[in-house]
Amino acid sequence: MNSRMIPVAVINPEASPESLEAKQPAVDNGAEVYAKDGYFSREYMEREWHKVWTESWLIAGVSADLGEVGDYFLFKVRDESIIVTKTASGVSAFYNVCPHRGARLLTEERGNKKVFICPFHSWSFRNDGSLRAITDEETFQEAVICHRPGLTPVACEEHAGLIFISMSDDPIPLTTAVGLPEGYLENYQIDKMRVVRHVRSEWGSNWKVGVEAFYESYHLHAVHPETRGVMGDLNVQYDLYPGGASRMIVPLGQPSPRQADQTTVNEGLQWMLQEAGVDPSEFSGTAADVRAAIQQAKRKRSERLGLGYERFTDGQLSDSWATGIFPNVQIGCHPEAIFLMRFMPHDTDPERFWYDTMTLMFPVDDPDYSPPAWMGLPEGTDVTGLNRPDTEEFLIDEDPGLGLVLSQDAAFLPSVQEGMRSKAFKGQLWGEQEQRLRHFHVELERWLNR
Ligand code: FES
Ligand SMILES: [Fe+2]
Repeated sequence: MNSRMIPVAVINPEASPESLEAKQPAVDNGAEVYAKDGYFSREYMEREWHKVWTESWLIAGVSADLGEVGDYFLFKVRDESIIVTKTASGVSAFYNVCPHRGARLLTEERGNKKVFICPFHSWSFRNDGSLRAITDEETFQEAVICHRPGLTPVACEEHAGLIFISMSDDPIPLTTAVGLPEGYLENYQIDKMRVVRHVRSEWGSNWKVGVEAFYESYHLHAVHPETRGVMGDLNVQYDLYPGGASRMIVPLGQPSPRQADQTTVNEGLQWMLQEAGVDPSEFSGTAADVRAAIQQAKRKRSERLGLGYERFTDGQLSDSWATGIFPNVQIGCHPEAIFLMRFMPHDTDPERFWYDTMTLMFPVDDPDYSPPAWMGLPEGTDVTGLNRPDTEEFLIDEDPGLGLVLSQDAAFLPSVQEGMRSKAFKGQLWGEQEQRLRHFHVELERWLNR
């Protein structure tokens, strides 16, 4: 660190060191400029596949999607498809491959089945992976089938309402992989939330360009100028955790320090007050009072509806805790809802990725309760949590329908990918507002060189 360095913000200087809100100690990740071939090269893409995607823990889905015994969903990463299912004894995962001739067993993304019947020759398997029946078994030599071939299991664990899988034969402990302090995710009670939207869209850049764009708020003023009225983009607290995990606390309900007007309760702030249950026409404070007013209103709402917000800090009620889990996840954490984004590698093209997003809502039957507007739920979305919507899929030339902010990112990132390809570009130069990017790359290098 040198004297020119701008101190990076602390959200709550009074937070005790044990508080989840406390600024984490600085991590010295060096100042290296990383080579850029990782964004283009197929060889590097293969290395990532063998060293990272098939070795680390990945969030395959959410507990909310496995409510009943027999419920299953498919998790697809590149050309692997994995069945994640709830059996009588818990959550299990298997490769979606028939041991007979290799056919895919299941093709529907979600459903409920206690027996999986292969569509090729109708061998059948119980949902604990064991072989149930071989069609015309008497026509097989004993030596071919005496091992009673079942489905190949994949390591699978549930944590805080999220379901993780690992294709590794010897995965590291899940808590080590998640890296966040105990209670951090549990606090949001994601296991009680329900999926209200699931969108998978194809974007025109390497998956890491996606991770990087969502790991900083440095680009907000330029790419998303509309956020200036309501997001304290220069007051963001960045925290680094073990295992490549990281977090940024983006204060919402306050104007950006980049803008001169710090008093007018602009339209965006009015909207946020409204969302928290405060009538903006009766609000007498200035812009500087809005964030605290939102916090107080949400506390009151919690008391009225029995939501138990005592477990959250004031800041958690208003701010976005954007939380990254290595390798490919960011969760926008709010008491009302979480926005789970997964940056999935493309099947064949290092210059594309799949942006898989789920909005999960804590179900509360009250008209005065909604997920944060920035999550971009379309008008009329069913937020009761009673009906699990189908996954919407958008190809690269379609607008992903994720609201203004995310559409701006989707439209912008291909130009970053293209520019980085230029002979002139020598590698990314990160500042302290981009410390999460460096932290992510340090961890990525560690996995690639394991
Ligand atoms: S490939 Fe599955 S039964 Fe033949
Ligand atoms: Fe963005």
